[in-house]
Amino acid sequence: MISFQLYLYVAIFILSGLRTLALDKFTAAVYEHPVILANATLEPVSPEDAVALMNKNMDALEVAIKRAAEQGSHIIVTPEDGIYGFRFTRKTIYPYLEDIPDPEENWIPCTDPDRFGPAPVQGRLSCLARKNSIYVVANIGDKKSCHSNDSACPSDGHYQYNTNVVFDSEGKLVARYHKFNLFTFETTIFDYPKEPEFVTFNTPFGKFGIFTCFDILFHDPAVVLVSKFQVDTILFPTAWMNVLPHLTAIEFHSAWAMGMGVNFLSANTHNTSSDMTGSGIYAPTGPRAYHYDMETENGHLVIAELNSHPRLSPTYSGAVNWSAYASTVERFLSEEQDFTGMIFYDEFTFTEITKHEGNYTICQRDLCCHLSYRVAEKREDEMYVLGAFDGLHVVEGQYYLQICTLVKCRSTNLTTCGEPVTTAQTTFESFSLSGTFGTSYVFPEVLLSGIHLAPGEFQILSDGRLVSENGTSKPVLTVTLFGRVYEKDGSTTSIPTNVPQHL
Ligand SMILES: *[C@@H]1O[C@H](CO)[C@@H](O)[C@H](O)[C@H]1NC(C)=O
Ligand SMILES: *[C@@H]1O[C@H](CO)[C@@H](O)[C@H](O)[C@H]1NC(C)=O
Ligand SMILES: *[C@@H]1O[C@H](CO)[C@@H](O)[C@H](O)[C@H]1NC(C)=O
Ligand SMILES: *[C@@H]1O[C@H](CO)[C@@H](O)[C@H](O)[C@H]1NC(C)=O
Ligand SMILES: *[C@@H]1O[C@H](CO)[C@@H](O)[C@H](O)[C@H]1NC(C)=O
Ligand SMILES: *[C@@H]1O[C@H](CO)[C@@H](O)[C@H](O)[C@H]1NC(C)=O
Repeated sequence: MISFQLYLYVAIFILSGLRTLALDKFTAAVYEHPVILANATLEPVSPEDAVALMNKNMDALEVAIKRAAEQGSHIIVTPEDGIYGFRFTRKTIYPYLEDIPDPEENWIPCTDPDRFGPAPVQGRLSCLARKNSIYVVANIGDKKSCHSNDSACPSDGHYQYNTNVVFDSEGKLVARYHKFNLFTFETTIFDYPKEPEFVTFNTPFGKFGIFTCFDILFHDPAVVLVSKFQVDTILFPTAWMNVLPHLTAIEFHSAWAMGMGVNFLSANTHNTSSDMTGSGIYAPTGPRAYHYDMETENGHLVIAELNSHPRLSPTYSGAVNWSAYASTVERFLSEEQDFTGMIFYDEFTFTEITKHEGNYTICQRDLCCHLSYRVAEKREDEMYVLGAFDGLHVVEGQYYLQICTLVKCRSTNLTTCGEPVTTAQTTFESFSLSGTFGTSYVFPEVLLSGIHLAPGEFQILSDGRLVSENGTSKPVLTVTLFGRVYEKDGSTTSIPTNVPQHL
């Protein structure tokens, strides 16, 4: 009797010890989901119809969650809009929303489903996490009623938020994040919180922070989670529409991980007609696994191992002074004429790359960009330019950029430089790109022919150079240093906090 109790005690002690044991590495999963959309309607559907549609999407998430858990994943991220879809108005999304309580309530919806009123979506997600013993990250909608004594309370009497939730491996709600930087049309559907929320939680495999899609372009909360809260890994549900050459999902999200020195788990919605594809598991030293598919309408599960504390890893190089090299070298002179061209509504200054090797400098305002390179062969049928942009971007959001970019033109006509192009044939044997950046937030991008990343094929030196000594495995579409100057976004960009966001 006594010895049995002792064994039991020891067994429980070991088990609970194992559970809290710190892990140096963990396995992450992200699921790119082809979301099943509700039919666009003018009037809200019934709560039953809303749950039925969301259950169809959760059926697919369930398959992915089970497979991820079977393959040893500790956490899985699913996409923004992955459960209710898109094509809503403020009114028609309402039946899809649930009241999501504060995680401080220590709520396990799976075992206590009715504690805060009807919550079938939270209940099911919690059970998926608990039954498969895996952290589940999902994007759902939160509603919070408000009173007319709150001057910001919308006239329909409640706030509604685009919300990420995290359930731990026992099914407990451990994080709730309300999206702060709503994308254009979303402001007619959702409210944003009065202050940005900095949502973090600890696990045996590191400290996590969370934000959503368009948030990645702004300082709050994204940068603060890394610089102040020192998270190890960012969880990032997104419904990202790719924009070439600088803002495709895999390219920009992997660059953010590298520029900020964090792990980044990005799960995109899959819809090729909306250019939505590109999910990945990115470490500061480069992508660990990613998925990009414009050929099919299928979902896809990505799984990879990561360091729990990437900044402690011996291969992590630490702080970069992004202007150190560029501000000390002489301007390279060339005979080529500068000219201007547009990249995603921004007017760049370009200079053509004409030789099989060389050194070029191009400047705009305070930014000078230097490129040294060698190509195997300077082809007659392809044209590349070096470009600089130092200015305020104002279309689909307002944000100040400093960008140095080597980019392939769509054709050999100079007027096509900066237009989207997906294939190339020019192989670079080496390159080095740097710029006189006035910011410490620079995201290094290398995108190859066919929309591929270049893991391990380039590196960032502490003096701010993006270098590839032995070239890349495929021809180059673009090599870019994408800088953000948050303090110049301008007073007109700061979102008014007391204006109801429904139209
Ligand atoms: C949308 O409408 C079509 C045609 O009425 C119907 O077949 C389909 O099931 C509907 N889809 C959903 C998600 O309700
Ligand atoms: C607003 O009114 C509600 C209901 O009467 C009350 O519970 C709440 O405390 C009030 N809030 C403020 C800020 O006065
Ligand atoms: C993709 O999204 C669009 C709306 O943006 C929709 O019309 C289309 O049906 C979606 N495709 C699929 C396969 O669901
Ligand atoms: C970066 O390097 C430049 C050039 O050496 C130097 O002037 C500048 O102070 C450095 N910046 C930081 C933040 O260390
Ligand atoms: C480019 O610059 C480097 C370093 O200043 C120099 O060694 C090299 O000869 C230059 N190459 C060309 C083709 O001018
Ligand atoms: C380049 O494209 C522009 C705009 O389409 C056109 O006007 C021009 O004639 C083209 N130049 C050549 C050399 O084809």
